Amino acid sequence: MKFAATTLLIPTALAFTGRMTYYQPGLGACGKTNSANDAIVAIGHDRWTSSNPNKDPLCSKSINISHNGKTVKAKVVDKCMGCGANDIDVSPAIFKQFGSLGTGVIQVNWNFV
Ligand SMILES: *[C@@H]1O[C@H](CO)[C@@H](O)[C@H](O)[C@H]1NC(C)=O
Repeated sequence: MKFAATTLLIPTALAFTGRMTYYQPGLGACGKTNSANDAIVAIGHDRWTSSNPNKDPLCSKSINISHNGKTVKAKVVDKCMGCGANDIDVSPAIFKQFGSLGTGVIQVNWNFV
C-alpha cells in the first residue's frame, strides 16, 4: 500500500502545538494576494511538497487555530520560511483575535480542517 506524502504532512486527525506569529500578507506561495484583514495563514516550509507551490495540496486547505478556549479558522495561502513544521504565521486579523499584536508570539493548538 502506498501513502502519498501529503498523508503525513497534512493529517486532519492530528492537532499540533506551536508558535503563532503574524506577518503582513502580500502575494503568497499559493499565487494569491492577501491583505492584513484576510483570515489567512502561512504554513511552515517543511510541509510543502509540490515543486510548484501554487499547486501544492496545502493551498486547498484551511486550519482551525485554538487558544484559551477560542477557535478561529484560517485559509492556507502562503509558505513560512522561518517556521518549524508546527509553527504558523498568520495575518494581523487572525492574530488580533487571540491577543494584541504587541504580544508577538502566542502558543496555539491547530489542526487541518
Ligand atoms: C473548526 O472550528 C469551527 C469553529 O470556528 C468549528 O465549528 C469546526 O467544527 C472546527 N472543525 C474542526 C475539524 O476542528
